[in-house]
Amino acid sequence: MTRTVHVDLANRAYDVVIGRGLIAGAGERIAPFARNRRTAVVSDETVWARHGAALSASLQAAGLSVYPVILPPGEQTKSWEGLAQVSSQLLDLELDRGDLVTAFGGGVIGDLAGFAASIYKRGIDFVQIPTTLLAQVDSSVGGKTAIDTPQGKNLIGAFHQPRLVLADLDVLGTLPDREVRAGYAEVIKYGLLGDFDFFTWLEAHGAEVLAREPEAVAHAVARSVEMKAEIVIEDEKEAGRRALLNLGHTFGHALEAETGFGEALLHGEAVAAGCGLAFRFSAHLGLCTGQDAERASAAIAASGLPVSMAGMGPFSADRLVHHMAQDKKAEGGRLTFILARGLGDSFVARDVRPEALKAFLVSEGAIS
Ligand code: NAD
Ligand code: GLY
Repeated sequence: MTRTVHVDLANRAYDVVIGRGLIAGAGERIAPFARNRRTAVVSDETVWARHGAALSASLQAAGLSVYPVILPPGEQTKSWEGLAQVSSQLLDLELDRGDLVTAFGGGVIGDLAGFAASIYKRGIDFVQIPTTLLAQVDSSVGGKTAIDTPQGKNLIGAFHQPRLVLADLDVLGTLPDREVRAGYAEVIKYGLLGDFDFFTWLEAHGAEVLAREPEAVAHAVARSVEMKAEIVIEDEKEAGRRALLNLGHTFGHALEAETGFGEALLHGEAVAAGCGLAFRFSAHLGLCTGQDAERASAAIAASGLPVSMAGMGPFSADRLVHHMAQDKKAEGGRLTFILARGLGDSFVARDVRPEALKAFLVSEGAIS
């Protein structure tokens, strides 16, 4: 069964189609968005080797000319160099505004290709075909695009909504277990931030999602995308409520920064640890109960994801606080966190006191 979530953003509205076997029919769905019947397909070597032939065949069968732009896999590709490579290749292909960029990969490719599309000839249309669980439930929806720079992650970017998102659940079959778990962190994040019923469903069915049982994965992806779409429709440019999607991310980004933004700690793993820390910090501040914090951690830990800094550090509390002060949500030097009043009930907390944060981090094992 195919499910469609409509992201209702006026003249930037689009559908997110979720289901099995979507690659085979991708050409028919994408062709209406390629007026010149040409598309550059930006992908990484791993995804292209496994699924590129099937996608190319589908696009060509629908009458589209396909121009692959293939990059090395990994976070380091989402860089100035990666952006220069994609942009140069688009220029060499002499694509114009009647052409289309197709982002075919995980969050790295989606963020990079989307950003290149946003600046190429001042903006060209793009579609997303996300191939990781993380990209299907989060990064392909909502129009945030970016690259990383030596100064930090996702600091250079743009809002550029895709014209269509095709989340083919079959492609998750080739995804390594560790990447499935990392994507699951973003799934459980939705339950924790705003849907207690979804959280309890994940407590009961999370193992089925991780085992990629079709019905469970379909429900988890669809519910996540529905929640993301609802928030993005209300607050596209993150003036307010969209910040809730960053539950766990302020702690998580600081841990990623300290571990080098790479294989040592994947983004989703950092978000999982960050969600555990955000709930315990909320309990520490008396905002939610200790039982809620324990239940959040237990649900995350049941999937094999980290819920704390244990086994990662040691980290300096001052360095972690410094990273958190650089977070994009921070304004005028004020620390901003997504904290919780309970399971499924998070909120944006501005003016978190650095001393309280530091004391909490030390209680979690950071060095004073
Ligand atoms: P990724 O794109 O690096 O993919 C992870 C790994 O899986 C890569 O090695 C890739 O080659 C491989 N892979 C992808 N699909 C595969 C498949 N079907 N089969 C086998 N291997 C496959 O990482 P990710 O976790 O998808 O994305 C992380 C990025 O997403 C980060 O840069 C993060 O900042 C970004 N992100 C963006 C948003 C947003 O709203 N734009 C939201 C969350 C995360
Ligand atoms: N991943 C957070 C957002 O899209 O806002």
